[in-house]
Parts: sequence; structure tokens; C-alpha cells
Amino acid sequence: MALTEQGKEYVKKELDRYESRLSAIIPALYKVQEEKGWIAKEDIEELSRVMDLPASAIQEVATFYTMFNKKPTGKYHIQVCCNVTCAMKKGRELTDYILKKLDLEEGEVSNDGLFTVSRVECLGSCDTAPVLQVNFDYHENLDEKKVDLLLDQLRK
Ligand code: FES
Repeated sequence: MALTEQGKEYVKKELDRYESRLSAIIPALYKVQEEKGWIAKEDIEELSRVMDLPASAIQEVATFYTMFNKKPTGKYHIQVCCNVTCAMKKGRELTDYILKKLDLEEGEVSNDGLFTVSRVECLGSCDTAPVLQVNFDYHENLDEKKVDLLLDQLRK
């Protein structure tokens, strides 16, 4: 089962907050991800029952937004912006650096279960490029030295 009883209660309350039930899909998906770490097909089906919405509508939202994980991730999901501004500030090279340092392929979970690295589109903080996000925390104005420090901190 995807959602805890508290999770289901949360989703039901979200349904009451909006004129359209469809508007509650994003908070509902966030709740599943918060509780479980990622969103599986069974989670979509369960939300469909709880929300009385077609699974296809929920699936569409989950697929469209990159912030929803469609497979298990490490404890720390490192999402590196590779969009234009960050790319101009070597965000793509920084992604390669992180993957090499962690000995990982993009989207894999590290053997210790700690890390998954993904390339993502603009994180909305272009003025502090290059930027990455670890779970919900932003790390900005990055270079290899700052990344080294960050990874050391996360390992502790
Ligand atoms: S391009 Fe990276 S935050 Fe906008």
C-alpha cells in the first residue's frame, strides 16, 4: 500500500480545498513521494480510488513533472540543472563530475543506497547558476570544490 492512513486523510482534505478535484493531484503525488520516495503504478491506482479520479489523469501529471520520481531513488536525490544558464556555467560538466565521483550512471541508486543523480530542467534559480537540488534543498553557485564538500556532508 502506498499511502498511510494519515496520507489518505491528507489527500481527502486536499480534495476539499479546490473547486476542481484535478487540482489536488499535485499535492497528492507529493504526499505519496514524501511517504514512499517514489511513485509506482500501484500508487497511481490507489490515488485514483482515494480521489475518485481516473488513473490516466493522475498518471499524466506524474509523468509530465520531472520532480516526481518514477522509480526508487537514493536517500539523497541529486538533481542537477542542465538547462541553458546552468549549462553555460558548466552545469553539464558538473553533472559528469558528480556521476564519476560517485561511480554512478544517471538514475541509478548507489550501492550504499545514499545517492541518485538526475539531470533536470531549469530549477528557477538561474542567477545563481550552476544549481543543483538535493531532495528539497538548493545548492547554488557551484563548482567542483563545493560539490566535494556537499557530498562529504551528505555522507556523514
Ligand atoms: S538554467 Fe539552471 S536554474 Fe535556470
